[in-house]
Amino acid sequence: MPLARSLSVTSLSGLEEWDEEFDLEDAVLFEIAWEVANKVGGIYTVIQTKARLTAEEWGENYFLVGPYVESNVRTQVELIEPTNPVLKRTIDKMNSSGCKVYFGRWLIEGSPYVVLIDVAFTAWSLDSWKRELWDLCDIGVPWFDREANDAVLFGFLTAWLLGEFAAQSEEPPHIVAHFHEWLAGLGLVLCRHRKLPIATIFTTHATLLGRYLCAGSVDFYNKLADFNVDKEAGDRQIYHRYCLERAAAHCAHVFTTVSQITAIEAEYLLKRAPDIVTPNGLNVKKFSAVHEFQNLHAQSKNRIQEFVRGHFYGHLDFNLDKTLFLFIAGRYEFSNKGADIFLEALARLNYLLRVNHSDVTVIAFFIMPARTNNFNVETLKGQAVRKQLWDTAQTVKERFGKKLYESLLVGQLPDVSKILDKEDFTIMKRAIFATQRQCQPPICTHNMLEDSGDPILNCVRRIGLFNSSADRVKIIFHPEFLSSTSPLLPMDYEEFVRGCHLGVFPSYYEPWGYTPAECTVMGIPSISTNLSGFGCFMEEHIADPSAYGIYILDRRYRGVDESCNQLTSFLFQFCKQSRRQRIIQRNRTERLSELLDWRYLGRYYISARHMALAKAFPDTYMYDLHKPTSTSGFRYPRPASVPPSPALSRHSSPRHSEAEDNDEDERYDEDVEAEKDRVNIRQPYALPFKNKSSA
Ligand code: UDP
Ligand code: G6P
Ligand code: GLC
Repeated sequence: MPLARSLSVTSLSGLEEWDEEFDLEDAVLFEIAWEVANKVGGIYTVIQTKARLTAEEWGENYFLVGPYVESNVRTQVELIEPTNPVLKRTIDKMNSSGCKVYFGRWLIEGSPYVVLIDVAFTAWSLDSWKRELWDLCDIGVPWFDREANDAVLFGFLTAWLLGEFAAQSEEPPHIVAHFHEWLAGLGLVLCRHRKLPIATIFTTHATLLGRYLCAGSVDFYNKLADFNVDKEAGDRQIYHRYCLERAAAHCAHVFTTVSQITAIEAEYLLKRAPDIVTPNGLNVKKFSAVHEFQNLHAQSKNRIQEFVRGHFYGHLDFNLDKTLFLFIAGRYEFSNKGADIFLEALARLNYLLRVNHSDVTVIAFFIMPARTNNFNVETLKGQAVRKQLWDTAQTVKERFGKKLYESLLVGQLPDVSKILDKEDFTIMKRAIFATQRQCQPPICTHNMLEDSGDPILNCVRRIGLFNSSADRVKIIFHPEFLSSTSPLLPMDYEEFVRGCHLGVFPSYYEPWGYTPAECTVMGIPSISTNLSGFGCFMEEHIADPSAYGIYILDRRYRGVDESCNQLTSFLFQFCKQSRRQRIIQRNRTERLSELLDWRYLGRYYISARHMALAKAFPDTYMYDLHKPTSTSGFRYPRPASVPPSPALSRHSSPRHSEAEDNDEDERYDEDVEAEKDRVNIRQPYALPFKNKSSA
């Protein structure tokens, strides 16, 4: 076998210890997913955050392929003429044959090129393509399954695009096509069936059956080996989808999953173990000032507090300075995402805080999109009342200031008892009267279309957490993703996360789980589980995760009630922390962010591509399949300064006063702790990757 031509990729991605050599000069990478420039859930985050690193490596030869959605294109994509002549000929050819294919730059970090395909424009081909699919592999897609119909159109169109690209190329190209998730899988199957000269990769971010089975009442992980997969898929009316997914997994040169736990699931449910696990990373922003992310927390928290002032108007009988903001966010899968046990644990926490006469209040936000017809009046009114009170205070302040100024001008101190006159009092009384309210502050911020059948609302009704004064735990359900243009809570998701104290993600089914990972890189502690890809990854790589604010709930070896008790205990311990302890814990959490950076985790994607190239073009590329591809063996040590539980954390500064937390003391303590930890962490952190490449 000829030797691979060699060019080191080390300098491209800053992977100092990564010594793989591969010549990609004439290779082209297409990455295909339904969530390219089209936000649905975590797959969008994978593609969007990874783009910069991949664009650095592949430069002009990297193209993302996704669906054309006009509203997305208007806000995220700059349409331009195709830069690559072969791709230009390909797109022109398709457009002259009845397709609508667009080319542009996606306006995100790395500005990758995108090819966007309008699947609806080619819907006239659906029936003939479905017939072809049936003739080809006996997969029948029912007319009423809109998502599967889109998958058929998208699959045939992407295979057309790739086939045309190969045909238009003067020299036989080395194409890598990386397909994500079942919705894009058919394109891969067709590429293989048509014997296109393409190295294919299929990454599954979850299995269809896994998601469906877990959402029911099945003891999923103990029964994994026993499922009759065809029957289970048929019973759930997803047999055709399942077939598309399984076909893609089997046809791919390289099959990958996002975590070890999904690797096992895929082995049983899709009947193929992945060739490599490709964990999800993030683009980690490093601030030059160490405390910057803490300042951002304080700023964002102020904005959440403002919202809360409006939401609870007339019932602001708790101390906002001693109020903790907890949240859960993601696609609305009630039990898979663990919203069920979170609510149950909140009810138990409420009881504990009440019997212990705690002065802490907890506000738990549920950010999970559901079907609504907009914000409800009571919630909007809350913000209007708050604004009115603010305006009133400003008016009175101005009148007060003017009188004060006039008095000083004539060399007199004002008579404080007279400086507010009758009119001022009338204005203020009127404003106070407006804050009277007959009902409790609302649980839900929107009018739900399926209010009576909604699982969160029904659970709240059952546990009786209605935002009453006596409750120490309050609930706000925001059934829409956050947006900085919202008239109610004008914050984007990142800002909101920064302002919260703890993210709670007690998932039962979670192949990776970006939400806790995003908390980590923003220095916000989180709770995840040992059934989530992220939780297992952190458990594997950190000696004492909870010391770093990474609480991992045991949902694998415990029953629901026991897990719920453990969750309640995590929450209660968290509520007992002082401000100073929270600040120190946030510093530790933030220090883990390097572990989740694409700069490190991107190497698994690089390996997958090299593996695929070597399998598809063995005469040109070579890959050592026996190379270790996991990070096993590497563990982040316990921080030197930490006692076993943050709740027990002792003061490292004798100057600290027990009674109240003072910011200057906090700073001092933080720095002392940070310095101790830094000394400990630096060295072992570099180790695993060195071991790997030298192995
Ligand atoms: N998310 C968002 N806005 C919100 C709430 C969540 O953009 O208001 C994003 C969040 O940043 C995360 C994704 O939704 O990247 C959810 O991904 P995850 O992997 O946690 O779960 P999935 O929904 O893919 O199962
Ligand atoms: C950050 C800020 C501090 C602030 C603290 C509040 O650390 O830099 O000035 O006091 O946040 O923390 P808390 O956990 O109470 O929101
Ligand atoms: C899927 C999974 C989620 C994962 C995401 C990105 O949507 O449900 O756990 O984080 O894909 O891989």
